[in-house]
Amino acid sequence: MTLWGGRFRESMEESAWRLNASLPFDRRLAEQDVRGSRAWANALCRAGLLTPEENAQIQNALGTILEEFRRGEFQFQPHDEDIHTAVERRLTELIGPVAGKLHTGRSRNDQVATDFRLWVLEAIDRLGAALRNFQAVLVARAEQDLALILPGYTHLQRAQPILLSHWWLAHFWPLQRDRQRLLELRKRTAVLPLGSGALAGTPFPVDRQALAAELGFEVPCANSIDGVSDRDFAVEFLFCASLVGVHLARLCESLVIFTSAEFGFFTLAEAYSTGSSLMPQKKNPDLFELGRAKAGKLIGLLSGLLTTLKGLPSAYDKDLQEDKPPVFAAYDTLMEVLPPLGGAIATLKVNAERLAASFEPALFATDLADYLVEKGVPFRQAHEWVGQAVRAAEEQGITLERLSLEVYRAITPHFEADLYAVFDPLRSVTRRKEEGGTAPEAVQRQLARAKALL
Ligand code: ARG
Repeated sequence: MTLWGGRFRESMEESAWRLNASLPFDRRLAEQDVRGSRAWANALCRAGLLTPEENAQIQNALGTILEEFRRGEFQFQPHDEDIHTAVERRLTELIGPVAGKLHTGRSRNDQVATDFRLWVLEAIDRLGAALRNFQAVLVARAEQDLALILPGYTHLQRAQPILLSHWWLAHFWPLQRDRQRLLELRKRTAVLPLGSGALAGTPFPVDRQALAAELGFEVPCANSIDGVSDRDFAVEFLFCASLVGVHLARLCESLVIFTSAEFGFFTLAEAYSTGSSLMPQKKNPDLFELGRAKAGKLIGLLSGLLTTLKGLPSAYDKDLQEDKPPVFAAYDTLMEVLPPLGGAIATLKVNAERLAASFEPALFATDLADYLVEKGVPFRQAHEWVGQAVRAAEEQGITLERLSLEVYRAITPHFEADLYAVFDPLRSVTRRKEEGGTAPEAVQRQLARAKALL
């Protein structure tokens, strides 16, 4: 039976029923629906609309239903339109007409908005924990790789030496912001729609503050119309997930590049690599490629929901039923992708000799300019003179380090024999010891900050 049979004489056409029904996906809200109903029954009881005995009957039966869901024994029926209908139908089977009192002063509009927020609140916590675990992998890598220096890139061109730990931690901080964003979203999600009714509010003296507290919400929503139609929390969740996806994609892209033969900085563990059906020699970084691809899917889910919401007239519209699949899909995507990516990163082998071999003297051109600055030369002038040295070396077909002191001194006598000391990765990174820099001592402090946040 539907929850709305009274005015109808005909039953719904089969395909129309299937389009309308949301049970195939909103059964995922089963536990939240039971929790919401239990709190609503308590509120009705406090308002004098259920006797304590009736409430006890309802609470017991809802407890039974929850157990049935948890054990996987709940029997859905072909006529369960959505999870709310299924729970109420089962409640009626268990306790008869008293079950019919539960929906007093409530609508599925405020009910579904409440269930969904409860679900998203839990998803925020679980996703936050998964992100934290992933960050812990990056921190462990950073601790392990403190002694290693690699060429840092801008525009994917060799730029300046950096500590490998510094590079790992560069991918820690975006995820830290993602976790903060989720926490801020938590506050906006913990606003209770229940008690909004269909759109105009509930006519019964329900204490919505107490209801909010019982369900773990911070406050009841201030406006019942907004209460049943606000899906900002779903959009924001999708945005947070998309940005996590973008952050992971950038890390994954670097790892695809760094595990290639051309770079060879890292070697993938076999447990996290794939082969080719045609080329026997191939060992592919498919997991990093998939990690990169998921951002596209997540962004699509976000723009899909935004587009669904755009232009809806006020209060509840059935379009809003379409809010749940993208949120579930985004959550599942990240929960599926984070653990294997973390495992693949934790088990990467760093090829220290490849890192060492990839240093070329041009990486120290900035250090050479800084050397002149320390001799009192204005930086712009120093940049120009080092640029001339780069050109001279290029013309002679040698590196900056091989360029003779005479040539340097012909450019400017500020160059002296000690200039050759700059061509040293450790010297270069060690000088950058201010907050946020790549010197080992600065990275140690950064690492301590990162660990304190886990
Ligand atoms: N299954 C619906 C949803 O997910 C529940 C709310 C239905 N409300 C209504 N007035 N038909 O949005």
